[in-house]
Amino acid sequence: MAIETSVFVTDAWSPKSMRHELRDSSNFYLVVTAGGEAGDAVVAYSGLRAPVGSPDSDIQTIAVAPVARRQGVARDLMRRMLDEAYSRGARETFLEVRVDNPGAQALYESFGFEGIAVRPRYYMPDGVDALVMRARLPAPSPSAAPSAPDDPAPSVLSPAPPDPASSPADPQPPTATETGVTP
Ligand SMILES: CC(C)(COP(=O)(O)OP(=O)(O)OC[C@H]1O[C@@H](n2cnc3c(N)ncnc32)[C@H](O)[C@@H]1OP(=O)(O)O)[C@@H](O)C(=O)NCCC(=O)NCCS
Repeated sequence: MAIETSVFVTDAWSPKSMRHELRDSSNFYLVVTAGGEAGDAVVAYSGLRAPVGSPDSDIQTIAVAPVARRQGVARDLMRRMLDEAYSRGARETFLEVRVDNPGAQALYESFGFEGIAVRPRYYMPDGVDALVMRARLPAPSPSAAPSAPDDPAPSVLSPAPPDPASSPADPQPPTATETGVTP
């Protein structure tokens, strides 16, 4: 929750909302920790909603702590979520992003997302519009599987992340070890 509240501030989910998300079997959450073990400090997470058999899916959230940004962490999380969506039967994915968040939009565009609509004043209390984006999902490519050794993208996935407020971020770059997948 420390990343959620510090990164999203007025848009942050409550602990209750986050728990609800994590418990829903239609959702798929990934958690990245600094040292590659489930008990290490959380540096990033992402969530996908993809009910099995549904042709549609939604990127629910993605956040990377400032200390771990621009190392390909979000790109790796996106790739894994889109592969999971495809494997559950989805052929399209949707998301909403603040119109004043060009960095996230650039990330999504690099995965083929295109803006299809604007939802006025979607993010309250700021009153900021949401851009709705959609991507058609191609079959996962072989290169989408485990990261290459020279790829800095970390991928520690744990079903029950510890509260990072009680575990300060480790300055080491996150490692690329997959330990588990929710739900
Ligand atoms: C947006 C966010 C998830 C990106 O995480 P990240 O791990 O730093 O992203 P990556 O390193 O994987 O970047 C992948 C690509 O996304 C784009 N990108 C990411 N951050 C960017 C930024 N600040 N400005 C411009 N482009 C950016 C770039 O194309 C980048 O590729 P490049 O580094 O080769 O240029 C992260 O900045 C974040 O958590 N922001 C706050 C929360 C947020 O806005 N979440 C999205 C809500 S819809």
